[in-house]
Amino acid sequence: MKRAFITGITGQDGAYLSQFLLSKDYEVYGLVRRSSWSEGMDARLRWLGVADDVTLVDGNLTDLSSLERLLRQIRPDEIYNLAAQSFVKASWNQPLLTGAVTGLGAVNMLEAARLECPQARFYQASSSEMFGLAQEPTQTEKTAFYPRSPYAVAKLYAHWMAINYRESFGMFTCSGILFNHESPLRGIEFVTRKITDGVARIKLGLQEKLTLGNLHAKRDWGHSRDYVRAMWMMLQQVEPEDYVIATGRTTSVLDFCRLAFTHVGLRAEEHIAVDAHYLRPAEVDYLIGDASKARAKLGWSPEVTLEQLVQEMVDCDLKRLRDELKITAGIARS
Ligand code: NAP
Ligand code: GDD
Repeated sequence: MKRAFITGITGQDGAYLSQFLLSKDYEVYGLVRRSSWSEGMDARLRWLGVADDVTLVDGNLTDLSSLERLLRQIRPDEIYNLAAQSFVKASWNQPLLTGAVTGLGAVNMLEAARLECPQARFYQASSSEMFGLAQEPTQTEKTAFYPRSPYAVAKLYAHWMAINYRESFGMFTCSGILFNHESPLRGIEFVTRKITDGVARIKLGLQEKLTLGNLHAKRDWGHSRDYVRAMWMMLQQVEPEDYVIATGRTTSVLDFCRLAFTHVGLRAEEHIAVDAHYLRPAEVDYLIGDASKARAKLGWSPEVTLEQLVQEMVDCDLKRLRDELKITAGIARS
């Protein structure tokens, strides 16, 4: 039985990756940081029905000693470094924390692996955000980076450090340059989930308007379930390499809204408002990835279309809100 250690196990990708690795008979360990509200910590793992099948262990990406201790105890075959301050907009307000967790935190994890289990295969969660002000119309592994946020700069540092540990110490490190990927488990602050939650609230009469920022930004959106499969595939290769993972289709925020509103029989234009509060100091206007290398070498391709993704997200938000309304009505009656 193979053993995997996942940082960021309580996040969107951590939950789907846990489910995927369990289906492959892995023993799954996940790093969790101390919080004052521990009951809600494993909510995503619970939603997928896998919370009782993984082992959660205490530590923090910013605390090298905790990582070393855990790797010494667990001795994983594979390490997936998914933990990060991952919300781009927050990175302008918390640039130092973002650098410490998203950038240096990855190096803590690499260093712990080098010291305690240098044979372990290491996945680093790199990001299409590193392309930023995109230097080519379609981005590949060879496209030059131009980061536009403290988050992207921190990710770029981590990306190159993963490559450096491969070249300096011969470690099996892979960086997955993943384009945006979403799901019903996406954090509510990200635009897709904010839209699908807003659409569900408007449909149920709980909210009138959906207030957004830049409607014209374009992203290459896929489903997290497809993307965690690619992470695992990278670590099963003979040689460690870096891969772009993307659908090859780009869509504006406005068109994402149109798909979501249309799914519940509403017109997006009648319900959207724009507020400058949601604009960013520097924007990434356009991203679209070319995953030809992953298709050819890993045999990876996405299975979920954008339309299926939007429908799944809206339907899950509708169900969750209806369930909450039933509970509230039940409490009011009793
Ligand atoms: P997410 O939902 O925001 O999850 C982030 C995870 O990191 C959470 O489990 C969080 O724990 C953990 N974390 C944050 N700070 C930590 C610390 N100091 N020590 C230990 N754990 C810490 O992110 P995601 O969407 O699953 O993305 C996974 C990774 O892929 C991230 O590195 C992200 O930057 C990267 N990425 C994501 C996308 C995308 O579109 N989703 C695309 C490219 C790259 P808590 O639960 O305690 O907050
Ligand atoms: N969050 C948010 N909220 N974004 C908005 C809004 C809004 O109200 N209105 C418009 N947008 C625009 C943003 O300006 C951005 O251009 C786009 O929607 C996507 O924003 P996010 O969903 O916050 O994601 P992101 O692209 O900045 O970052 C995500 O993808 C990266 C990969 O490219 C995150 O998951 C990062 O962690 C990841 O690396």
